[in-house]
Amino acid sequence: MKQADMVAIVTGGSRGIGAAIARKLAREGAEVVIVYRNNQQQAEHVVADIIRQGGKAEAYAADVTQEQEVRQLLDEVAQRHGHIDILINNAGVFEGRPLGEVDADHIARVFDGNMGSMLLMTRHALPFFPARGGRIVNLSSNLIYSPRIGTAIYSASKAAVSVLTHAYALELGPRGITVNAVAPAMTETDMTAATPPARREAVANGTPLGRVARPEDIADVVAFLASDDARWITGRTLLTDGGLTAAL
Ligand SMILES: NC(=O)c1ccc[n+]([C@@H]2O[C@H](COP(=O)([O-])OP(=O)(O)OC[C@H]3O[C@@H](n4cnc5c(N)ncnc54)[C@H](OP(=O)(O)O)[C@@H]3O)[C@@H](O)[C@H]2O)c1
Repeated sequence: MKQADMVAIVTGGSRGIGAAIARKLAREGAEVVIVYRNNQQQAEHVVADIIRQGGKAEAYAADVTQEQEVRQLLDEVAQRHGHIDILINNAGVFEGRPLGEVDADHIARVFDGNMGSMLLMTRHALPFFPARGGRIVNLSSNLIYSPRIGTAIYSASKAAVSVLTHAYALELGPRGITVNAVAPAMTETDMTAATPPARREAVANGTPLGRVARPEDIADVVAFLASDDARWITGRTLLTDGGLTAAL
């Protein structure tokens, strides 16, 4: 029960990496608030699983790219729980396009979905962190170090997430809040379900550990950064890629 009495918000907790993070934090004793946009059924399934296993969880619908919805969500969570100790900015969107197909709508969707959402959540959650401090963990990507053709805008939006992570670690350190990011490589979720098998195989073969990541591989690292054990780590992006980059 490392996280007993802690209130943790996990955006994008209805599926994939976010669902694994929510389950892990709940197992560690946190009261978990899962934020989703569309998939109420999947969000409620994760909540029911957590409760069945003796944990505490609830689900909220909010589009975290919309400031008004973010404010309302955080006000409601703060009213219900009194404080927010852990914020996991996991919600994100992937859209690949070559340069010739990039337009303003694509840029706005990808930057709002990845950078804007973490910015709005962080900004509006801030008043509800208690005096003892807290933890913020953001989801970046290994592509910030080695973007692939067609991923430029997504990779840039995740690089922005990492830069903001480092900048806000400086700003929020005096309040006892650590801010870190994890940068996964390909992970088995809906986001990568359409990846061609040959590409998946190439990533698995290029990874010293011989496979692509499972959501739990990433969730365990996020939970570590959200724990008291990581109290002396802030302003870092932790590459969680099974050694893929080391092998390049
Ligand atoms: N999978 C990978 O290979 C990989 C690699 C590196 C980094 N990442 C990053 O890791 C994070 C999680 O990825 P994933 O693969 O688990 O994604 P996923 O399976 O596509 O799930 C995305 C989650 O984010 C939620 N979401 C998306 N936009 C939202 C919005 N505007 N407001 C509220 N919720 C929103 C979705 O809610 P609904 O269920 O309601 O749609 C869902 O819960 C993302 O930031 C992603 O960029 C993933």
